[in-house]
Amino acid sequence: MAVTREEFVSIMSAFPTGVAIVTTLDEEGRPRGLTTNAICAVSAEPPLLLVCVDRTSRTLAALRHAKRFVVNFMSDGGAELCALFASKAEDKFADVRWEPGLGGVPCLTEDALAFAECLTEQELEAGDHLILIGLVEAGSAPDPARVPILYFRRSYGSTPTAAS
Ligand SMILES: Cc1cc2nc3c(=O)[nH]c(=O)nc-3n(C[C@H](O)[C@H](O)[C@H](O)COP(=O)(O)O)c2cc1C
Repeated sequence: MAVTREEFVSIMSAFPTGVAIVTTLDEEGRPRGLTTNAICAVSAEPPLLLVCVDRTSRTLAALRHAKRFVVNFMSDGGAELCALFASKAEDKFADVRWEPGLGGVPCLTEDALAFAECLTEQELEAGDHLILIGLVEAGSAPDPARVPILYFRRSYGSTPTAAS
């Protein structure tokens, strides 16, 4: 017995998350990426994180081929970019500024609050998703001048700032 897909999505919408754009390179070296919120720290030593990717994602083949990805943790104001990377647009990188990180994988240095450059250590099958576990080889600490974008009840929002 299990809840329906709709019920599951509705239940999970109660859990606020940050939003990250996961980037990689395809077989021809073209940048690829998708918007995600199923991201989680797994281990500190060694530093591991996971991302859950839908089997229908068009980025998945590139992720599996490159065996590398960058998790770009998005800052407030990045909703438009998150919507673009959540779409099926052909060239999501056409108007996006990025810099090559390890292995040439795109880092969205202008729009990300921080990023983690990962080498895929493990792939686990889980229902209609694949869990990619990445070893964080490099990254950037959060920019203290920026706040993260939030996703809650299927909408983007801002991080509430503490009242002084
Ligand atoms: C806020 C938000 C979070 C998302 N999180 C995930 C996720 O964690 N994993 C995933 O596979 N898709 C996630 N999606 C859906 C993908 O971004 C969407 O299916 C996208 O079209 C995939 O692009 P692609 O097929 O070009 O890879 C999310 C979408 C939104 C708006």
